[in-house]
Amino acid sequence: MPVSRPMSSNTPTDAIALLKADHRKVEALFDSFTSARAAPRRATLAEQICNELKIHTLIEEEIFYPSFRGKIEDDTLNEAMVEHDGAKVLVNDIMATLENDEMLAAKIKVLSEDIRHHVHEEEMRGDGMFSQCRKTDVDLVALRDQMMARKQELMAQAKAGPLPPATLAVITA
Ligand SMILES: [Fe+2]
Repeated sequence: MPVSRPMSSNTPTDAIALLKADHRKVEALFDSFTSARAAPRRATLAEQICNELKIHTLIEEEIFYPSFRGKIEDDTLNEAMVEHDGAKVLVNDIMATLENDEMLAAKIKVLSEDIRHHVHEEEMRGDGMFSQCRKTDVDLVALRDQMMARKQELMAQAKAGPLPPATLAVITA
C-alpha cells in the first residue's frame, strides 16, 4: 500500500535528509549528556541516546543499506555495518547497566566518538556514503517514506516499553 501523508514543514526532503536529521539529534543528545550533572538526568539522556541509535541503525540496516548494495562501494557498506555493531555492543551494555554505573560517562564518551566517526564516513563530501548514494538511480523520496513508516513503528514500540537489545549484524561477539 503506498504511503501518503501530508508534507509537514519538518518532513525531511528525502532519505538522506532524514538520516542527517537523526545524526544532528543524537549529537545534540550527546552534548546534553556532557553538560548534565545529576545522575538521574544522565541516565535518562543515556537511555534516549541508546533508543535513538537502536532505531537509526535498524532503519539503516533494514531499509537504507540494502537499497544501495551493488550500487555503491561494498567496502563503504561493510565498514558502516561493522561500525554499527561496535556501537550496538556499547549501547546494549549501557542499557543493561544504566543505573549506578560509574563507567557510564566513559561509555557514552567513547560511543559519541565512534558515532562521530561513523557520521563523518556517511556524510563526508567526495566518496562518503551519502555522496555515493546520491549518484545512483535509487528513489530517495520513496525510500524516505519507507524509512519514516518503519521509524514511526519503532518509536511507538519504544514508547510502549523498552526496545529489545540491538542485534549484531556482522560481528560474532
Ligand atoms: Fe549509520
